[in-house]
Amino acid sequence: MFSIGIVGAGQFAGSFAKLWKLHPGVGDIVATDLVPERAAALAADHELAGTLPSFDAVLDSDVDAVAIFTQRWTHGPLVVAALRAGKHVYSAVPMAVTEAEIAAIIDAVRETGLTYMMGETSHYNPATVYAREQVAKGAFGRLFYAEGDYVHDMDLGFYAAYQYSGGENWKPTASYPPLLYPTHSIGGVLGAWDTYATSVSAIGVVDQRGDGVFDREVSQFGNDFSNATALFEVADGGSFRTNEFRRVGYPSHIRESRFRFFGTEGSFEQLVTVGLWQDKEGVHDVSQHLQPAATLALDDPSLAGVDPALREAFTSGCAPVHDRSRLPVEFAGAPNGHEGSHHFLADDFVRAVTTGLLPPVNAWVAARYTMPGIVAHESALKGGVRLDIRDFGDAPGT
Ligand SMILES: NC(=O)c1ccc[n+]([C@@H]2O[C@H](COP(=O)([O-])OP(=O)(O)OC[C@H]3O[C@@H](n4cnc5c(N)ncnc54)[C@H](O)[C@@H]3O)[C@@H](O)[C@H]2O)c1
Repeated sequence: MFSIGIVGAGQFAGSFAKLWKLHPGVGDIVATDLVPERAAALAADHELAGTLPSFDAVLDSDVDAVAIFTQRWTHGPLVVAALRAGKHVYSAVPMAVTEAEIAAIIDAVRETGLTYMMGETSHYNPATVYAREQVAKGAFGRLFYAEGDYVHDMDLGFYAAYQYSGGENWKPTASYPPLLYPTHSIGGVLGAWDTYATSVSAIGVVDQRGDGVFDREVSQFGNDFSNATALFEVADGGSFRTNEFRRVGYPSHIRESRFRFFGTEGSFEQLVTVGLWQDKEGVHDVSQHLQPAATLALDDPSLAGVDPALREAFTSGCAPVHDRSRLPVEFAGAPNGHEGSHHFLADDFVRAVTTGLLPPVNAWVAARYTMPGIVAHESALKGGVRLDIRDFGDAPGT
């Protein structure tokens, strides 16, 4: 068993505190936050082992691992400091916001031999899991084109989230550039297609709402793009296109990502409530296969008539395409999230730390999910000029 120090006890950390508390591979969990009441509340809500006063206090403590759930532009330096202090690291997305930060994380992982994992929920998005299976079967033939979109309007939760996160100073942070949060779209594509981006041309859409959020004068990031589209060239020939939209008429509360894959023998296309597999003969509706179940407690009254042995399938938050057989039984009936991905991510980290083996979204994979967005934002700022993307290579030994 190993211990975890959670850094950043805001809106998202509780989902994972809950799961690690249930996981038989995890011992004590402590929490810290710049706002001490948040750490105290997280500890009380999840019956954690306690709180520590600061990030430095977590590094000085004897916890084995650190889980970073701080704001999206802050991860890089915290991750490096934690690795250099001898801690395994779980990081919420994105990996980092500059090439130098990514390089520093890769160096630190290589030199320390510790576990680093980025918690990319799209890696376990049902569409990505399905496409991964189809790739493994060779059903696409040669994949040559894909699309991955993260389509989440500011009006659907983000204003409230940034206000909670940034307090009085929330507006400058809410303009966070869409392409610097690229992992839900890129990770969902590359989670299935075993390649990486080599160059990009991107276009940003300047916001017109006029409410001082995507306003260059106000923005901490000097950013006025609220929507952006990027076309990437990939290593083995082919391309993929991603959209990062924050002003869009789309029901992200039903499904906030969408993916499409085209191969020489088959293709897969997803809409909000529809998933279709297509080949040269016809169309197969796979929507139900990709539809996550509700997340209900196993003793929820609505399950009264359901055979207890079957209850988990109706309550796990996972889709039929997810194979839950490797998960700890303690996760049965536990809250899940982001289309069933939380259980797999929480378990991936425990397995990696416990075995010393690389997690699926290790530092090298995380770099391939993150770096293309950083360069795409640069391209958009330069009016779409095509730029090369640095690749950090395959993880050692893979
Ligand atoms: N689908 C997904 O994968 C997904 C979904 C939601 C959030 N996230 C990611 O999770 C992270 C957290 O999101 P959130 O909504 O909980 O943010 P949040 O703003 O609600 O919480 C962040 C917390 O971190 C604290 N903090 C910041 N710097 C700190 C430091 N140095 N030491 C201690 N505490 C510090 C803040 O005080 C705040 O309470 C973000 O990076 C976000 O991108 C990912």
